[in-house]
Amino acid sequence: MAVRKAVIPAAGLGTRFLPATKSQPKEMLPVVDRPGIQYVVEEAVRAGLDDILVVTSRGKVTLEDHFDRSLELEHHLEKAGKTELLEQVRHIATMANFHYVRQKEPLGFGHAVLMGRPHVGDQPFVVMVGDEIVPEPKDDEPALVARMMDIYETHNASVIAVQQVAREVIPAYGIIDPEDVADGSVKLRGMVEKPAIEDAPSNLASRGRYLFTPGIFDAIEKTSAGVGGEIQLTDAITSLAEQEGVYAYVHEGPILDVGKKLDYLKATVELALRREDLAEPFRSWLLQRVRSLGVER
Ligand code: UTP
Repeated sequence: MAVRKAVIPAAGLGTRFLPATKSQPKEMLPVVDRPGIQYVVEEAVRAGLDDILVVTSRGKVTLEDHFDRSLELEHHLEKAGKTELLEQVRHIATMANFHYVRQKEPLGFGHAVLMGRPHVGDQPFVVMVGDEIVPEPKDDEPALVARMMDIYETHNASVIAVQQVAREVIPAYGIIDPEDVADGSVKLRGMVEKPAIEDAPSNLASRGRYLFTPGIFDAIEKTSAGVGGEIQLTDAITSLAEQEGVYAYVHEGPILDVGKKLDYLKATVELALRREDLAEPFRSWLLQRVRSLGVER
């Protein structure tokens, strides 16, 4: 069955990005010249996902406004002859069909995914974390969601995106327990949330993109709340792996976290360097700045 729906959880409190997130959603913080979540939506559209459900919460109305038409602004740009900007602004609202559901309490990422159940129904769907950006692939970089869809087609089972991470950061991630299979994709035995380094079953960390069969909803519902009363996805993925099988796609291109301050800075640099209109002047400035730090190479 073709996958058409994306669910973007964007209802978190963003406490790691305070004070910026006190009254604005972290998904709306600009990265170069657009809110982070716009990159996520653009990635969904590139993958053919034109039905997008954003899970929001109180105080996130600017997010809904961003993906709506702004007739007053459009009129102003039209009158001023700013055709290119006008096209850009219109495209934001028309590139997909947007739907919203509110998560009334921040009960965790797994709970946010469950909020999508009435909209998604009995279909496979993609979950895209609202504060992780996968840049548009360049050169021979793989298209992440498209590769996940290939694996889904082959095995008719859920697929999660993973990346190899350095040993010392293993305790910050959900880590998979892999079982190698012949065709290059990896089957999961299960998954552990934030393990100690010595207990980690691998160095493959789950990273922000999931293609689920609707079976995930029952699995989440059966999962009891963990640390801090939050419902995480990890246990639900383990039980789905036992029932239906779950595969992992090891992504080798960049996945940029914009929900933490240091990673946000790195993401801004990476995305600016990928922009045709900014790359050259930004690169010259950056090189000079790095040299001024006394770094040779
Ligand atoms: P995070 O754990 O990174 O988001 O969840 P957070 O809770 O906002 O962050 P901190 O720890 O307070 O800084 C990953 C994604 O899941 C969403 C977030 O909006 C983010 O895009 N999320 C998280 C929800 O939608 N609901 C939740 O209850 C928790």
